[in-house]
Amino acid sequence: GKGNKMKQFDFTKKEALLIQAAMDTETEYLIAKLVGAEKITIENWIFYTGFLGKYEEPVIISRTYQGLINASAATALALSYFKPAAVINQGIGGGHDRRFHRGDIVLGEKVVPMGAVIRSYAAEGDGISGTNFTPLPLEIFDRKQQCTRKVTEFPCDEKLLAIAKKVTATDWMRDGQTAKAMSGVIGSADEWNNELDRIALLRERYHTAVEDMESAAAAQLCYSYGIPFLGIRILSNSIVNGEEFDESVGVDGQKFIIDYVETYSQYLQQERFCDSM
Ligand code: 5AD
Repeated sequence: GKGNKMKQFDFTKKEALLIQAAMDTETEYLIAKLVGAEKITIENWIFYTGFLGKYEEPVIISRTYQGLINASAATALALSYFKPAAVINQGIGGGHDRRFHRGDIVLGEKVVPMGAVIRSYAAEGDGISGTNFTPLPLEIFDRKQQCTRKVTEFPCDEKLLAIAKKVTATDWMRDGQTAKAMSGVIGSADEWNNELDRIALLRERYHTAVEDMESAAAAQLCYSYGIPFLGIRILSNSIVNGEEFDESVGVDGQKFIIDYVETYSQYLQQERFCDSM
């Protein structure tokens, strides 16, 4: 029966979707919704395998802990152990774009490692400038090309993003009100920005809609490994709109992810059908 099929499913065979987030408030709801959940500990990180949504999609839920270094370690471990088909890095974030309010969702077009900067020279006594910098290209090992190259941004997968846009074709509700889910650029660094002029500059340079502290790490590794990646962030705060931190939106973000996974399952069904024609 079905239960048996689930028991026999091998999560290390390049089929499951890896869904990451930093904190309990961004993962607990998903873990509670897993059918056939199993906990796997690798080094300092915990992963839950199981089946999610009405089509029982095989997924791995990963709690990365906060920040780029934790996220990169959790991603590297998961990529080598589970060999996921694709990676979704999701969770809460801080708004840069006034059009997004707390509870609205940014579907990642791409991720910019906005903390990677080359600062211009200034002589002793000339002070410190917040504006004299250019992006520092980051080295990645491109597995397909078998060589290293330097990049200043990490793409999100077009198909994975298209699926996210399908989810939002139906209105996304929060507190009985329609919330927005639109595509945008995710800026990511070990930073929490509150200077409005700095945020305006980041928007000018990188067109960021939201900032977080993990997605650049996961996006960079997926880019390097050649694995489809998508970042999704729900705003828990927006200093540009004067909206203070409320981490409870993490649950709404996870509800969106369940809708996403169901749409993803339908997409895979369709793709299999097309392949067999
Ligand atoms: N800036 C940076 N990270 C934020 N997060 C939420 N809001 C912000 C913000 N304004 C996310 C990060 C981190 C935790 C603090 O929440 O990704 O995991």
